[in-house]
Amino acid sequence: MRSRRNKRRRKNTAITVVTILVLASVLGAVLYLFQTPVVTISPKLRYAIGETVSLFDLVTEVKYGTLKNENAVFESQKAGTQQVTVQIENRLGQIREETFVLEFYDDVPPTIEAPEGLTVMKGDKPDLLQGVTAQDDNGASCAVSLSGDYDTSVPGSYPLTFSASDSSGNVATRTFTLTVLALPFDDNGKLVEGTYTTRKGFSLEVKGGIAYVDGHLIANKSYPLPKTHTSNWMSPETSKAYQKMASAAAAAGHNLNVKSAYRSWYDQDWIFRDYCRRDGVENAETYSARPGHSEHQTGLAMDLVASGTQESKQPRQAAALAWLNENAYKYGFILRYPENKTNETGYIFESWHYRYVGEELASILYNNGDWITMEDYFGIDSVYRGY
Ligand code: DAL
Ligand code: ZN
Repeated sequence: MRSRRNKRRRKNTAITVVTILVLASVLGAVLYLFQTPVVTISPKLRYAIGETVSLFDLVTEVKYGTLKNENAVFESQKAGTQQVTVQIENRLGQIREETFVLEFYDDVPPTIEAPEGLTVMKGDKPDLLQGVTAQDDNGASCAVSLSGDYDTSVPGSYPLTFSASDSSGNVATRTFTLTVLALPFDDNGKLVEGTYTTRKGFSLEVKGGIAYVDGHLIANKSYPLPKTHTSNWMSPETSKAYQKMASAAAAAGHNLNVKSAYRSWYDQDWIFRDYCRRDGVENAETYSARPGHSEHQTGLAMDLVASGTQESKQPRQAAALAWLNENAYKYGFILRYPENKTNETGYIFESWHYRYVGEELASILYNNGDWITMEDYFGIDSVYRGY
């Protein structure tokens, strides 16, 4: 009797245990399947623009689930914040979303491309921002501004600053020095004695009413000569160099003649007036100098022709001028008014007008046949300044 009751009790106990075990397993399975995934977001959610960031950098750990949009890509080229949504799938395949804010910052200022300085002459009106650019590190171009005071009517050195800011407010600055050089003229265009610097950095000296750049006498529309300045037909040095050149030309079959070398102020006055009468002032100005402005008054310049009979003159002249064009520099002469340099010299092409400057400068200006003008090389102009 007792053992029967014991048997039943044991059976009940077993049923209870099994039931509990089953219930616990079911509960365990339910809990397991429904368990909420846990996502750990990285504490680092700020990155410099351009950095490569993947979702795995932002989500450091996912527990009880899997990350779905792991291939998400972020706009990393623009500074600012963006919402990132991560999708996590639990074990039942249910998807939950979690959002956080990701920020890309830009702390790199733009780069300014600008020269360190500029030298201008008094009265010039340079556009100091011309060619000055600024580029942000993402390639965008930024506006450049210039600060600081300057006055190109007052010679001096002006420290200025270029600035540019990018869309994130990063500011770049660059210092710039504007140098304004004094001109050797007074307000009436008259030369003022003294020592100056040209815009190309050569020394310009006005002595006895005559301008010399780097020691070379200058006579053009800007730089006149005193009325009283006279010379021999050719200066002694010019004459010596010309004899050498003429001999070499003769040896090469070209007989040179000097049509015109020294002309006095008065000769030039007569010639210029004559051209003006015949051709009009405007035309005459393109090929004839006003008195006091002609290089012929220096004794350093000459107009060359080839001698020959009337009918043979033209081809002979052309051949002689071609020879001069290639060889004159070896004797210290330059083609003073080359083709297409009117805006520099102030005169149209004169294939016959040669000027003695010495061999050193002549070979620089010859420039393998692509003549450089004295004006361009020295950084001076040739414009009438009122008289
Ligand atoms: N023909 C040149 C420019 C002069 O008159 O001096
Ligand atoms: Zn001439």
